Formats: sequence, C-alpha cells, structure tokens
Amino acid sequence: MDPRRILLAISGGIAAYKAPELVRTLRRADHVVRCALTPEAERFVSPLSLQAVSGETVRRDLFDAGEEGEIDHIGLADWADLVLVAPATANLLAKMAAGLADDLVSTVLLATRAPILVAPAMNVNMWSHPATQANLAVLRDRGVAVVGPDSGELACGWEGIGRMSDPSVIAVAAAAHGVPPTLIGTRVLVTAGGTAEPIDAVRSVTNRSSGKMGFAIANEAARRGAEVVLVAGVTSLPTPFGVRRVDVRSALEMRAAVLAEFDEASIVIKAAAVADFRPIEVSGRKIKKEELAGGASLTLELVQNPDILQEISARKGDRTIVGFAAESHDVLAAAKRKLSRKGCDLIVANDISRSDAGFDVDENAVLFVWPSGEVEELPLLPKPGVAAQLFDRIEKLREGR
Ligand SMILES: Cc1cc2nc3c(=O)[nH]c(=O)nc-3n(C[C@H](O)[C@H](O)[C@H](O)COP(=O)(O)O)c2cc1C
Repeated sequence: MDPRRILLAISGGIAAYKAPELVRTLRRADHVVRCALTPEAERFVSPLSLQAVSGETVRRDLFDAGEEGEIDHIGLADWADLVLVAPATANLLAKMAAGLADDLVSTVLLATRAPILVAPAMNVNMWSHPATQANLAVLRDRGVAVVGPDSGELACGWEGIGRMSDPSVIAVAAAAHGVPPTLIGTRVLVTAGGTAEPIDAVRSVTNRSSGKMGFAIANEAARRGAEVVLVAGVTSLPTPFGVRRVDVRSALEMRAAVLAEFDEASIVIKAAAVADFRPIEVSGRKIKKEELAGGASLTLELVQNPDILQEISARKGDRTIVGFAAESHDVLAAAKRKLSRKGCDLIVANDISRSDAGFDVDENAVLFVWPSGEVEELPLLPKPGVAAQLFDRIEKLREGR
C-alpha cells in the first residue's frame, strides 16, 4: 500500500493511551504521521511521547502563535492525505456532525478536504445513544469512514461495544480509506463462510470457517466501488455496507446461488469453505439413538459434492476467477495442484494449522500462487489487509482489458 501523509487527530478518551502505538504502527508501514490533540486528549496522552514516536511537532493549540508559526491550521488541513481521528470521542463526533470549530482538531476537521476516518471509542451507553448514532449517520452520509468500535471489556468497567479497534486494524483501514473507486462498473461475486451438510432434521456436518476472510473481500470490493454479490454460507457476520447478500447453507445451495449470479460477474472470488462431501441419505426426522439397537454405532456414508470452482473455471470467459485453498500440511504443493486442476487465475493459500491465522481469527498469512509458477508470500495481516492486497493484484491483472 502506498505511504500517505496522515494527520492523527486525538480526542479525550481513555483509548488515547494507545495513540503512540498507533503512530508506531503507521510509521512501520512508511506513512508520515503528524499528531494534533484536543485540549482534553492531553489529559490522557503526553504530547512529548507523541512527538518522540512521530518524529514531528505535535499540534495542540489553535491560538498558539509559536505553533501557528511552524505550520498553521489550514496548512495542516491541506497537508494531510488522510485525517484519522483515533480515538474519536462522542463529543468530537457530535462536533463534527454539527460543523463546530472551537479548537484546533475540530477546526482542521472542518477545513480539510482530505478523506476522514474515525475510530470511535466510548462507553457502551454513549455509543448506543440515539444522539451518537444519529451523528454517525450524518458523518457516514458525508463520506466519513468508520472503523470499529469493537466489543469486549471496556475501561469504564462495562462490557459491550465501544472499545477502540486495535491499532493494527486501524492502520490497515487508514492505508485503504480514500483510495479511488477503481472497481466502478464491475460486478464482483464473492463466496464466504462454511457450508452445513444435513444429516437429519437437526444435525449437519460443517467446518470452522467464520466467513471473516470472504466478508473482508466483499467489503473491500464495495469500498472500491464494485457492485458486490456475497453468497454467504454458515456465518453470523453482519452484511458489509453496500453489498447484496444471498444466504445459503449446503454446498448444493451454494452451487445454485453461484451459478445464478455467475453470468453477470466479471470477478469471482471463492473464499467459502465448501464441504467436499455430504451425507448420501438425509433423514427428514431427528435420528434417535434408541432406534439403533443395543448401542450400535451410526454409519454415515458420504458422497462427493460438485466442485464449484472447477465448474465455473471451465466457463471462465474473460472473467477473473480466484480460489482459496485452506490446507493443513504441504500448503504450497497442495495449492499448486489445486491451481492446475481447477484452471483459475490465482489461488490464495493459507495454512489452517496455524493458531494465529486462517480459520476463525482476524488475521491471515497467505500465499498468492500464480499459474506462471510465481509464489508471493504475504506477512501476517488483518483480513481486510489481505483483501486489499488481493484486489491490488486483481486490478493489475485486469489492466488493459
Ligand atoms: C477518565 C475519563 C475517560 C473518558 N473516556 C471517554 C471515552 O472513552 N470516550 C468518550 O467519548 N469520552 C470519554 N470521556 C469524556 C470526554 O473526555 C469528554 O466528553 C470530553 O469533553 C471530550 O473532549 P474532546 O472530544 O474535545 O477531546 C472520558 C472522561 C474521563 C474523565
């Protein structure tokens, strides 16, 4: 991702203590970072620490002639490629929505023409208050992007939504926000999540896929302006903004949904963990153990499911088709075999035996395996970061078409 000039605006919430770590994370990705604080933010984080980690003068006071002499507030607003507000207090979000400009940070936020990304952090009741939600709706309407907040234990002692997103997640969102909408006019079909293959009226065979990777891909495609259809298997994730979702459960349902959407799609990304097998016989009733004489075991006979990726790759035309390979051993060799068997444009391979990446976690370490034999190994990244890298490659592949 390209380095950017990021103005980090810090407001007065407890999560401001994470600001120095956020600055360091952004600088590790080669971004230039300047910090501006609200007067209240200074109670939570020291300007000196921020100056040390950013290597830049920290701005705090709109009316300090010395500070204004170095770089005035309009100069600061114009300098930024992106203004990142982290943490964003309920108070600052309200001021932004109302267009107030009564301190350095709110004035810069009103004066800048750069894209704005906010990372809210507050008590769960402040977050869910209709006033805060209405302010966010106003800001979203104006194109302000929002990252988080997360759920969990809050500093105030409450449990719930309101915790600022992790600095690594904010850094990925910051690198990506405000990027030109490069996929306008393109229909992208994404599959995500696991399938559930029925055994009887209540039971099924499924897997641990959370759908997070596929949902991040759908979100990234929508962010780049694509028209996105997300065929979602078994997952509890919310639908990303601007995405049309089709819910399915079994591999056969997923195949039907993919084939129904395939003709209109230019890019197809199959990130779902589709079961290779399904029970041959499905009981319409719940199978009772009393029906099995003398504690006998129950034998399930499984039949192979159709290979959706292979089927659509055979009808590829000038579409770009990407498959995912979740492997527990010999990852690269298995991915190469899959690529040549299926005939798609790219295989994204991940090692699901790792506990820090792959299934049901927020990060992924993947290999891009190309038909030319080239293999790119990406570092451990949040899944939205992997999605951004993937679309950078797909767009390059489709350049000049
Ligand atoms: C200990 C403490 C922690 C606070 N944490 C938060 C917080 O996490 N989020 C928030 O919106 N406000 C929080 N507040 C309230 C804000 O500091 C207050 O609304 C302030 O006016 C915000 O000013 P600013 O938005 O100009 O920085 C906290 C206040 C105190 C005393």
